[in-house]
Amino acid sequence: MSDGYMWFEGVPFPTAGFTPEVLREARESFALKDEDVLLLTYPKSGTNWLIEIVCLIYSKGDPKWIQSVPIWDRSPWVETEHGYNLLKDKEGPRLISSHLPIQLIPKSLFNSKAKVIYLTRNPRDVLMSGYFFFGASTFSKKPQSMEEYFGWFIKGNVPYGSWFDHTRGWMSMRGKENFLILSYEELKRDTRSIVEMISQFLGKKLEPEELNSVLKNSSFQVMKENNMSNFSLLRGQFLDEKNGILLRKGITGDWKNHFTVAQAEAFDRIFQEKMADLPRELFPWE
Ligand code: A3P
Repeated sequence: MSDGYMWFEGVPFPTAGFTPEVLREARESFALKDEDVLLLTYPKSGTNWLIEIVCLIYSKGDPKWIQSVPIWDRSPWVETEHGYNLLKDKEGPRLISSHLPIQLIPKSLFNSKAKVIYLTRNPRDVLMSGYFFFGASTFSKKPQSMEEYFGWFIKGNVPYGSWFDHTRGWMSMRGKENFLILSYEELKRDTRSIVEMISQFLGKKLEPEELNSVLKNSSFQVMKENNMSNFSLLRGQFLDEKNGILLRKGITGDWKNHFTVAQAEAFDRIFQEKMADLPRELFPWE
């Protein structure tokens, strides 16, 4: 706790909403069912966008559900106290979110046919998004400057640890039938095709007008105005009143507006060092 994180098995977590007991129980005892769907991301990769899309696919484009139930109750985070308690007693097929690295995920995943979607994003944009988001939070360690946060990110001294380790860990599941890897960049570039791919993967066929409604209601502008999805309910308690924003810019490549030349070069070197042995197509932004 002393350094602003709650550490569990070498991974830093925010200090509010997480306990070692829940993290341990989630890994050891949480039973994933074959009909569950698990949405996995490293924080700030577009998690909530993916959740909104999947909820709308489930409701066939009808926005009633996304407009009436907070996003963290529609697809709860299995590792948080709140999410774990909701999920463990829930009947029927569940939507489950998680930012956990592979070594901390419920062990039952590896013996289940639950469908998993892993959404990645250019870590440079993840870094920027996290810098602004955690800087405006009350539940996580706040950086004093971009330079400081850059150093933390490279070391993995940010919520959920190293992006590089997280990504490497989950990429080891690639090729499995129940595992779909997507990127924020592809989702931005061709939202319609990727949403169709997701609905096919989930076995939920959409009529053309249903697909149009999914696209409209999960768009940046509509989501930004949906109080059940834009985290405005957390303002005051967990997020700064003014700067606590989930839907900040919603673009690719914003890092170019913030990184110094030296930071960009250093990041390229570290990316090469840590990820060069993985197939390039896993990182469409590179
Ligand atoms: P930026 O901070 O770069 O704008 P997460 O949900 O994992 O915390 O990710 C948050 C990031 O996803 C934010 O990135 C946010 O703007 C972006 N995002 C959320 N909803 C989006 C949408 N409908 N379209 C595009 N980007 C979205």
